[in-house]
Amino acid sequence: MSEQLTVVNHPLVQHKLTLMREKDTSTAGFRTLLREISLLLAYEVTRGLDLTTKHIETPICGMDAPILDGKKLALISILRAGNGLLDGILELIPAARVGFIGLYRDPETLKPVQYYYKVPAELEDRIVIVVDPMLATGNSSVAAIDLLKKSGARNIRFLCLLAAPEGIKRMQEAHPDVPIVTAAVDSHLNDHGYIVPGLGDAGDRMFGTK
Ligand code: URA
Repeated sequence: MSEQLTVVNHPLVQHKLTLMREKDTSTAGFRTLLREISLLLAYEVTRGLDLTTKHIETPICGMDAPILDGKKLALISILRAGNGLLDGILELIPAARVGFIGLYRDPETLKPVQYYYKVPAELEDRIVIVVDPMLATGNSSVAAIDLLKKSGARNIRFLCLLAAPEGIKRMQEAHPDVPIVTAAVDSHLNDHGYIVPGLGDAGDRMFGTK
């Protein structure tokens, strides 16, 4: 496995992912699981973030204690399914700046079409975590990261729930500098660009649309 690919095989993550994959899991159940799993994945994708120190007083004495500089972090959600992962991570790092990239997949070509782009200023000074639950063809993720690099981002990580080998390959060819963190790598993509065995359409499952 490449150094740039981390599969989070923690039993809690794997257990929750199995429940999310099941087709009879309700929208409410899916959403709860996604929130929970996003906290666990956030733990992994934020490993190695820089800490600064803050002087505090404990009940016993003063100390210089480690603290994250949340303002240095930018979370970028690829709409709309990215928002499901975003919410959990924001609970852990509420000071993070947040951006949104709207891309939809043209159902014929499977190519990404941009309809929204709003990201925090000074991306060059931030650690940028791009979130999208499904790394399928990789077209949307590659296009989103292309745009972020044009905006100055240099230190980018990509967080997803499920990845297809095709998407990983495409990402690693286009953006070899971007580490990928995922809960699982599935078998392949079907003719409609869905991950097999996957969990279906992540957006539909989390928002109850069809
Ligand atoms: N997007 C999804 O929501 N599901 C897939 O399987 C692939 C892309």
